Amino acid sequence: MSEPILDIQGLNKSFGPVHVLHDVDFAVRAGEVTALVGDNGAGKSTLVKCIAGIHGSDSGTVRFNGADAHIHGPRDAAALGIEVVYQDLALADNLDIVQNMFLGRERGSKWLLDEASMEQAARETLASLSVRTVKSVRTPVSALSGGQRQTVAIAKSVLWDSKVVLLDEPTAALGVAQTRQVLDLVRRLAEKGLGVVLISHNMADVFEVADRIAVLYLGRLVAEVHTKDVTHGQVVELITAGRSGDLGLARPEAAVL
Ligand SMILES: Nc1ncnc2c1ncn2[C@@H]1O[C@H](COP(=O)(O)OP(=O)(O)OP(=O)(O)O)[C@@H](O)[C@H]1O
Ligand SMILES: [Mg+2]
Repeated sequence: MSEPILDIQGLNKSFGPVHVLHDVDFAVRAGEVTALVGDNGAGKSTLVKCIAGIHGSDSGTVRFNGADAHIHGPRDAAALGIEVVYQDLALADNLDIVQNMFLGRERGSKWLLDEASMEQAARETLASLSVRTVKSVRTPVSALSGGQRQTVAIAKSVLWDSKVVLLDEPTAALGVAQTRQVLDLVRRLAEKGLGVVLISHNMADVFEVADRIAVLYLGRLVAEVHTKDVTHGQVVELITAGRSGDLGLARPEAAVL
């Protein structure tokens, strides 16, 4: 088994008196999709934001590519090659696809942006991910469908030589066909060798694309399993009760305290 590209150990996070994440161990492996699942409020988005440096954590260690890493802000995470795609904050509506993909990281000089090179890179990135539904990279994002936006947001995250991409509910607002596109894209990211984390409430999606499933229950990571070793029912039980047979917490009721 390969060493994880990202390995979090003993992560704790509180917001004031509210202890949201308890001693979370979480690993991401290159070339794999890890689904991060859990009920509303379990702490999935908080974990992702701690990894991305948006929230500081109270304790815990991070290893990246086999070395100790210190993430004190989003820039540290980006420098390591960790990118996050958020459902809502993903894109600026009034800008076109190229402008969005290079927002804050434009190429060229202060006086003259290198539009041609950015346009080319945007096109190549979309093509490398086999994205065919976007007709022109000069289309304003406001004119794209939800699925196309999500596609652009994901493509943006791989433009930066990223190693780990965390997707927070990328299909939550999408229809069947658009969900299909995004799930295909998620698989392709892993095939390109990235470590992918997919947060989703949809068990069918999770079972379709994830190699592993990590379950958060009341802020505790109660199980990390190979998808092929578990049933939908077991995962649902882990999500709702913190335990399923031999899997999960020995005494889930103690976690509530
Ligand atoms: N900025 C914050 N300040 C205070 N409490 C917060 C903050 N962000 C999250 N929380 C609390 O942390 C807990 C976990 O929230 P989080 O958003 O991580 O859950 P989630 O697993 O992503 O849920 P969902 O599936 O609904 O998106 C919740 O109880 C929430 O109220
Ligand atoms: Mg969330």
